[in-house]
Amino acid sequence: MTHSNFPQSTNKTSFIAGSIAGLLVAAGIFFGSGQLTRFDSPLAAYAAATVLAAFAITYRYVSWIQRPPTWVYFKAGWKLFLRPAKLMKNIFVLIKLLIDNIVVQKFISNRGKGRWVAHMALAWGCLIAFAITFPLSWGWIQFGVAPNGVDYLVEFWGKPMLAFPHDSILAFLFFNGLNISAVLVLLGVGIAMHRRLFEHGAQSVETFVNDFMPLFLLFAVSITGLMITASYRLMGGAHFSFISMIHAFTVIVLLLWMPFGKLFHVIQRPAQLGVAYYKEEGNGGKQAICPRSGEAFQSQLHHDDLIAVMKEVGMDFGDHQHLSPQEKRKLIALNQAASIDGIPYVG
Ligand code: HEM
Repeated sequence: MTHSNFPQSTNKTSFIAGSIAGLLVAAGIFFGSGQLTRFDSPLAAYAAATVLAAFAITYRYVSWIQRPPTWVYFKAGWKLFLRPAKLMKNIFVLIKLLIDNIVVQKFISNRGKGRWVAHMALAWGCLIAFAITFPLSWGWIQFGVAPNGVDYLVEFWGKPMLAFPHDSILAFLFFNGLNISAVLVLLGVGIAMHRRLFEHGAQSVETFVNDFMPLFLLFAVSITGLMITASYRLMGGAHFSFISMIHAFTVIVLLLWMPFGKLFHVIQRPAQLGVAYYKEEGNGGKQAICPRSGEAFQSQLHHDDLIAVMKEVGMDFGDHQHLSPQEKRKLIALNQAASIDGIPYVG
């Protein structure tokens, strides 16, 4: 067996990619906030955490993408997607894949209604919260007064974007967006926690780091966020700065935890959409035929890539790799029987 030099080369590339991502976010903050003139300095800790998270998430993503099997799928997915003759069709397929996998998250509805509701609430709660808070903490968005002196004005990168009356539905959504997202996240955490605590199927495979830690973090972020609202709406601002600080702390831990454990699937999942193109291409193309049974068992594309990847990670099983899984299992049984009779090997 040969050994691949994968880990060393990966670390360097991942470090460079992570650093570029961190610098891009820092540059985005600097220029998007008018060279920090519109930057809200009390939010500096949040902004710094997003820079570090960009580094860490990209580092992990690039390390993952360079693993031999992922790299094969990643390269093949883009190559198949960008073929000029099929580009238009592929774009439509991509829109459908995005709707199915990200908007309505069909993949989880097959596993149960409760899991689907929990996942939708968690995913949409987080996406809405991130969409509001990232631009806010980067100094990209400000709220001001419209030229009529009455309405609210939203400015993006210092440019007036839209104005709305203080009693409109839009105003309600703008000023309660984070509260709505917190309620959604708490609903999702509640259902998911119930399943993890009481369902035997879930209990048998769950781990603290993968299954409980992300829920605890999301709970802490959402509950401290709601406590900020409670402080200034119901408690006359009591303990506001302390609660604010705790919210910032939980957000920073959440952001820095993102590249580790289960929350990383938020970044991984979209990259896996490329596998759908790969499978479609494989199903319509030449099939690999097992030399023992003479039957087709997988696409030739997948078969050849699998053998190449196995070699790259130091595993070369020679002609044995051309057999279908069924024939491999039969050979194991034949060889076990043969060894009882003292026959050395049946090929
Ligand atoms: C699951 C994700 C999150 C939820 C559910 C959440 C929820 C909340 C809620 C309910 C509030 C109070 C809103 C109000 O003032 O009316 C809040 C405030 C805030 N959140 Fe979060 N949040 C989340 C993630 C984040 C992230 C990722 C950041 C930063 C990158 C962030 C930064 C802030 C800031 C700057 C405030 C205002 C704090 C202050 O006034 O001191 N949040 N959040």
